[in-house]
Amino acid sequence: MKIFLIGFMGCGKSTMGKKLAVKLGYDFIDLDHQIEKNLGTTITAYFAENGEEAFRKLESETLKNFDYPSNAIIATGGGAPCFFDNMDWMNANGLSIYIEMSAAALAKRLESGKEKRPLLKDLSEAEMVRFIEDKLTERERFYKRAGVTVNGISLSADAMRAMILSRQ
Ligand code: S3P
Repeated sequence: MKIFLIGFMGCGKSTMGKKLAVKLGYDFIDLDHQIEKNLGTTITAYFAENGEEAFRKLESETLKNFDYPSNAIIATGGGAPCFFDNMDWMNANGLSIYIEMSAAALAKRLESGKEKRPLLKDLSEAEMVRFIEDKLTERERFYKRAGVTVNGISLSADAMRAMILSRQ
């Protein structure tokens, strides 16, 4: 079974994905890392050179063409569900789980390490809160199409594991 973790940057997709994969005995795949591996450069560098549109195409191709193992937890980039038919594709090919978190909580978690994220790296603290609020509002209609929505703050890997097993 393929489990796609979706949600805004900083909501914990990779951290939770890794824990969950260990608990379930599934493989863990981080799509951003796969893209970077294929490119041989960072997403930040690729964005700067080629722009967001080129990145979104690459992201969608990677999502759809990756050679997934039969059981995998897949952490997707925060924007992935919001472009092309990526959300339909994930729902047709596995279970999508939205890790929901408020803009305020996300801003706090994203303050450190924002230089690794091309959409945030040039924003001041105040600009970042505003940006997250706006982007989250814009993206929520895509995220909410996930098969399951979970609360990112009170999330436990054990509860996630039980929920996934109950759906098999
Ligand atoms: C992005 C999120 C990033 C990465 C890229 C764009 C976004 O992934 O794909 O920087 O548009 O929200 P994470 O959600 O893993 O940070």
